[in-house]
Amino acid sequence: MPPLARVTIHASQFPQNVRRDLLESLRTRQVNHKFHYDSVKQTGQWLALHQAFSPSRTDPDCAAAYDRSFAAAASRLRSRRVHVIGLGCGGGQKDTRLLKMLQAADRTAFYTPSDVSTAMVLVAQQAAGAVIPWEHCSPLVCDLGSMDDLPAALGALPVDNATRVITFFGMIPNFEPQVIMPKLAALLRPMDLLLFSANLAPGADYATGVQSILPLYDNALTREWLMTFLLDLGVASGDGDLSFCVEDDPAGNGLKRVAAYFCFLRSRAIHVDDDCLEFRPGERIRLFFSYRHTPELVRAMLGRHGIEVHGQWLAASGQEGVFLAGR
Ligand SMILES: C[S@@+](CC[C@H](N)C(=O)[O-])C[C@H]1O[C@@H](n2cnc3c(N)ncnc32)[C@H](O)[C@@H]1O
Repeated sequence: MPPLARVTIHASQFPQNVRRDLLESLRTRQVNHKFHYDSVKQTGQWLALHQAFSPSRTDPDCAAAYDRSFAAAASRLRSRRVHVIGLGCGGGQKDTRLLKMLQAADRTAFYTPSDVSTAMVLVAQQAAGAVIPWEHCSPLVCDLGSMDDLPAALGALPVDNATRVITFFGMIPNFEPQVIMPKLAALLRPMDLLLFSANLAPGADYATGVQSILPLYDNALTREWLMTFLLDLGVASGDGDLSFCVEDDPAGNGLKRVAAYFCFLRSRAIHVDDDCLEFRPGERIRLFFSYRHTPELVRAMLGRHGIEVHGQWLAASGQEGVFLAGR
């Protein structure tokens, strides 16, 4: 691996804006998910739990569903030059498999791993480096939730004359749809392809299906990962209890999500530079949520934003699905 990496950092992740978002998370008692991926430690913790629990890593049939969607995307591409843009790329494992397939299909592939976490884009760049030349990689650090100029940020990347394949894997669970979907729709150009994956509720009954996947979240690795945010701010694990539940989306759109709350059992002050935030016994802070969809809910959601689904591939377990879509 070369000793230098050139990473573009959008203002949404400049320190003063990250600090503003942190204070907002603490004031509203609703933690912005980006704070669970911030540090090298959290990146390592998340990658470990992803390895242990994500069906895309533990279930060969789920991995095969991704591969079939990649083959379908590749067969639709007319151009030799392809720019894969991984939004919320994580460790870049899925994007790298896509890049590998594109290279094997005689395409020249470029890659923009994009994530809120600098550590994550570097891990993804390293993974992709096994498949494409290092100089074909142009990482971008940005906060998809707060920025409103993503098309311009992507337009400024050093890749020309390439068809874009935008990946949005495992992202929709952690964003309120009304926040992220308009941004994703505004980004898609007529020739772009979108590969989109969602965590699904298995089985015929949506509510029972969501309940059945709780153990994928309520486990030691996930608890440790989520608690790191509070522990790094000076909270002690004995200050309260972390619990998981299934809740209805407060926006009233019929979706359900798994949510994690830390309930304080004793008073705790959290200091962020000169600001001090007090938490009293009985108060709780939402650390995390993860929406579960059904294939019908995904297609309807994309359709409402003018995005047409060309194909879908579902894991036999019913826990995850990949959708190929476009304008
Ligand atoms: C559930 S992981 C999915 C990772 C990868 N796409 C996959 O499927 O393996 C969510 C990713 O989104 C990133 N993320 C969280 N909030 C974000 C935000 N506001 N803007 C951009 N990326 C964000 C995290 O750092 C993390 O890498």
